[in-house]
Amino acid sequence: MKLQNPFSVRQEQEIPAEFLDLISDILSNPEFLTLDSYSHHPGASRLVHSMNVSYLAWKMAKRRGYDERAAARIGLLHDFCPYDFEDRTPTGEHQAFYHPKAAAWYSREYFHISEEEESAILTHMFPIGPLPRNRLAWIITLADKQASILEVCGVTVVPRYGISLT
Ligand SMILES: [Fe+2]
Ligand SMILES: [Fe+2]
Repeated sequence: MKLQNPFSVRQEQEIPAEFLDLISDILSNPEFLTLDSYSHHPGASRLVHSMNVSYLAWKMAKRRGYDERAAARIGLLHDFCPYDFEDRTPTGEHQAFYHPKAAAWYSREYFHISEEEESAILTHMFPIGPLPRNRLAWIITLADKQASILEVCGVTVVPRYGISLT
């Protein structure tokens, strides 16, 4: 049974074009789209989770007059890990500590990201990871928590039809 939305998060019927325009190149990258084949939270693939974080981060940044583009893009890239989280990590670290580094590596490899943006990816697991060191990093870590709680409760933030899957 799905819970009704117990939060004050608006469930969008359509993804705003101004938001999609900021992330369209990422959503057309075949490697990135493989995130849809990995379960992230019950009922949400890693791609769906990433879209939720991206959207919530974009809204947070927009409301406060911060960098909306960076929020949308880094929200989308923060878990860019095209592998199963059940897999062993090359360093032997727990995935909770390892995956932000992997996401930063893949994001650098496939897209241009700044140092500030990389730092936001690396600290998104706060408080079990490092302290966020800039405004964007705080937005991403907060949006990640918000999206995760909503997903576990079965609340859809953005409709998935806006994502063109291959
Ligand atoms: Fe993560
Ligand atoms: Fe996440």
